Amino acid sequence: MYRLVFSQVLRRFDAEAVHRLTVSALALLARLPLLKRLLHRAFAPHDPALRVSAFGVHFPGPLGLAAGFDKDAACAEGIAALGFGHVEVGTITAHGQPGNPRPRLFRLVRERAVINRMGFNNDGAHAAARRLRRPRGIPVVIGVNIGKTKVVPESEATADYVASAKKLAPLADYLVVNVSSPNTPGLRNLQAVSLLRPLLTAVKQVADATPRRTPLLVKIAPDLADEDVDAVAELALELGLDGIIATNTTIRHGGETGGLSGRPLKERSLAVLRRIRAKVGDRLTLVSAGGVEDVDDVWERILAGATLVQGYTGWIYGGPLWAARIHRQLLRRVRRHGLKSVTEAVGRTA
Ligand SMILES: Cc1cc2nc3c(=O)[nH]c(=O)nc-3n(C[C@H](O)[C@H](O)[C@H](O)COP(=O)(O)O)c2cc1C
Repeated sequence: MYRLVFSQVLRRFDAEAVHRLTVSALALLARLPLLKRLLHRAFAPHDPALRVSAFGVHFPGPLGLAAGFDKDAACAEGIAALGFGHVEVGTITAHGQPGNPRPRLFRLVRERAVINRMGFNNDGAHAAARRLRRPRGIPVVIGVNIGKTKVVPESEATADYVASAKKLAPLADYLVVNVSSPNTPGLRNLQAVSLLRPLLTAVKQVADATPRRTPLLVKIAPDLADEDVDAVAELALELGLDGIIATNTTIRHGGETGGLSGRPLKERSLAVLRRIRAKVGDRLTLVSAGGVEDVDDVWERILAGATLVQGYTGWIYGGPLWAARIHRQLLRRVRRHGLKSVTEAVGRTA
């Protein structure tokens, strides 16, 4: 059904217009308490065998929505009601900014992929904090992904991240330092250990000082050389970070300027996950993102060592109930393998 709607209707409209409409619809849903609860009851993962605990946070299921869809923390409840186990909001920057000129979001339907050069369009940390403080009618695990404001020079990047962290860490179930988006000039340079160490040290101080000690993760690019992946993993261990999200979009493609996501990213994203797992074992929580399309992908990432899995592009092509469907299928898979819980599968083939 969704395939038909997508091929006959949605793909004829500008991708960003469809995105904005979807965010508005989900934000509206969040304001309809009865419908929101009904959908949550029907589609959110409820079976204890799907529950996952990571860095002290309890997730109802392992599959969450990757950063970049709910950039302003405007509709996380609506997303959770459709079956996602967590929602990573952002990327949020200290100061609001418009992002790059349009068009900046492109579908590659045949490749089951997307290219985006959004450029962290968002209302800024203050506005996001206001939204995150609103009371919620259903339980939602919310990760907050922060990035650098475009006009802030690299030399002042740490202060800019710290400003966001101060506003948002107290309101987040976990915090992510994003140094891997390709659409803010110079951002990915911050992945160099010499720059990343002071940045992560400063943000961690802020995250550690919240009443509940907010878990801190770093999100990396798939385009890092293998040695650089190792270096970031070692740094994360050294600084006592809680985990790594691998990966963001890739710039290794021949299309429009921007980051490529979806099916073509699958292989590299899995390779990066395997590499980090080999290096750190279970000392860090690994969150796998990139090219996840179906339950087989989710299962493969879990077996390879991911405690949590995220998707974005797969949802665009899979339809509104994509996450609910995958969680249902995952539960069957867990039972078929005679496991009591999905967490028993984490790292089994690592
Ligand atoms: C339109 C779009 C916008 C994105 N914006 C962000 C962002 O703001 N911050 C971020 O960390 N990742 C962002 N991403 C990357 C995703 O979070 C994810 O890491 C990547 O798309 C790979 O997953 P996928 O193949 O399931 O889409 C964005 C992805 C897309 C498609």
